[in-house]
Amino acid sequence: MWYYVKTLEYPVNLKSTDIRMAKLLVSQYGGPDGELGAALRYLNQRYSMPTNKAKALLTDIGTEELAHVEIMATMVHQIMENASIDEIKVAGLDGHYVDHGKGLFYTDATGNPWTATYIQCKGDVIADLTEDMAAEQKARATYEWLINLTDDVEIKNILSFLREREVIHFQRFGEALVDVQDNTKLTDFCK
Ligand SMILES: [Fe+2]
Repeated sequence: MWYYVKTLEYPVNLKSTDIRMAKLLVSQYGGPDGELGAALRYLNQRYSMPTNKAKALLTDIGTEELAHVEIMATMVHQIMENASIDEIKVAGLDGHYVDHGKGLFYTDATGNPWTATYIQCKGDVIADLTEDMAAEQKARATYEWLINLTDDVEIKNILSFLREREVIHFQRFGEALVDVQDNTKLTDFCK
């Protein structure tokens, strides 16, 4: 179970009206390497982890990724909230507007809906932790591409915080991989 804390992990009070950037930011909400996929991947994989330490790690990081879903949602919502119809059309978000108004939806930056095919659970600790490490690097790279695409300091600061968290998660998954290799009985194929 979870206890809900009514503050974001990193404050979001954007003054930006750059709706073009909102269209790009949404990829870290519902895109292939986004926070929704990360949270669902880890909170699902945790059940077949072979040690309590690995289970706890996936629960911790999966939970934090949900907090990052919230941050991305808040960023996109704040920018979208005051957009005019003309700005929505110029940004190419008129299709989104037809289906969702100014509401949020889990898509990538080009409007493709989130799909479970973005994530995997192999039920094999080596395969799953290695996937998790790759997922963190892909999320880190996505944050860097987003940072490159805006001059807004507030947006850059939030994205930089989230990027740092991906680096930390990558390191922690790496530690878990070493731990299970050292302390569990793996099949000959996994050594
Ligand atoms: Fe992460």
